[in-house]
Amino acid sequence: MDRIALTGGVPLYGDIPVSGAKNSAIKLMAAALLTSEPVRLTNMPRLADTRLLGRLLARFGCQITESDGPDGQQSILHTPEITSSFAPYDLVRQMRASFNVLGPLLARTGHAKVSLPGGCTIGARPVDLHLKALEALGAHIDMHEGYVFAQAPRGLKGAEIEFPFVSVGATEHALMAAVLAQGTTVFKNAACEPEIEDLALCLNAMGAKVSGAGTPTITVEGVTSLHGTDWPVICDRIEAGTYALAAAMAGGEVRLTNVRPDLIGILLDKMREAGCAIETAGNTITIRRDPAQKLKAVDITTRVYPGFATDLQAQFMALMTLAEGECIIRETIFENRFMHVPELSRLGANIVASGGEARVKGVDALKGAQVMATDLRASACLVIAGLAAQGETTINRVYHLDRGFENLEGKLSACGADIRRLKSDEPVMELEE
Ligand code: EPZ
Repeated sequence: MDRIALTGGVPLYGDIPVSGAKNSAIKLMAAALLTSEPVRLTNMPRLADTRLLGRLLARFGCQITESDGPDGQQSILHTPEITSSFAPYDLVRQMRASFNVLGPLLARTGHAKVSLPGGCTIGARPVDLHLKALEALGAHIDMHEGYVFAQAPRGLKGAEIEFPFVSVGATEHALMAAVLAQGTTVFKNAACEPEIEDLALCLNAMGAKVSGAGTPTITVEGVTSLHGTDWPVICDRIEAGTYALAAAMAGGEVRLTNVRPDLIGILLDKMREAGCAIETAGNTITIRRDPAQKLKAVDITTRVYPGFATDLQAQFMALMTLAEGECIIRETIFENRFMHVPELSRLGANIVASGGEARVKGVDALKGAQVMATDLRASACLVIAGLAAQGETTINRVYHLDRGFENLEGKLSACGADIRRLKSDEPVMELEE
């Protein structure tokens, strides 16, 4: 298992190009199963998660070609025929989002057998809303031995579906199934995350008729088939926010490029409130901070979009460990998303977490130590903390980082960070999210 070693205290200066969003790319890849024609995804991040999903899609007959195209990194996904509708446990449990192949397989072939994903480190994360939505669309669902058997031999049928609470995954999953259903589907209380709009726009480019994505009410007029398209993956707002926080933590001046500042408006407001100088212009965000200047403690509460993203909570907490005063960080999306707290404490942070609340009291300095990454975003928070810690920090289990951050060491070291990967031949532990 590789580790990352970094020596803190070096301000960052330079540009960081933001990659395509992992959480959009993997849904767009699943959506490519809905057509027999090629779908060319550009601005594609190369990540452990996209590779893993590629392996699963290949089992269904999807041919994937990755290359550097005229618009940068691209993947062409082509599934002339679905050769199998079976997603085994071994692959699904390694990445929960791969459960979302169920909808497209069902919509295209009328049947699918997909493993339930199981729990993960940040919460129980059931898929009941996904299954209820597919049932409402007319699927017959059975569960045996950890597998979902779904059937709709005469096709899915449009329905009115009101989600009892907002779920990103259930909204995307049901949307992918509804585009090929007969008649009209209306989703109420749908998630509004930008990745959902990206998925809906791509589906429309494939011939679907989706309106309202990005708002709580989405309407889908079913069509009988979809065709191929070219689609650029939306920029990764979580990666952008992570580097914005890294720059604020280390100090210096960093310009993020290929980014949409409007997607992380709340984060930028909170960072300004804490004392960071932030300018946005077109597709760039510049973060400036004198490392000698103390930041102010600022409270946050995670919420569904456009609220403060849970996927940036850990990274924001890292920044707050050195802020002046005390703040409260509330996590409302996942029940166990403070696994980074004991690791930050190993670096000298003063944090008390209980239930969904963490009280962070700023300290004068963090000190480098060995720490362990527990999930993807928690790993990023340890990198951020390490950038400002005195001495060397070594992060174990960086395979978590590789799931969602493309070339993280390269991007940070291009701005002057003293960060390196310690390669190891030891096998990677099994992924889990
Ligand atoms: C997506 O997860 C993201 N994953 C997560 O990012 C992100 O944290 C989350 O949305 C919230 O923004 C991907 O896009 C691959 P949810 P998802 O369904 O879709 C409960 C990362 O680090 N729930 O909106 O799984 C659930 O347990 C990852 O990139 C049910 O109870 O999130 C959670 O408490 C981590 N039943 C809440 O809803 C269901 O059927 C919100 O989950 C579905 C969800």
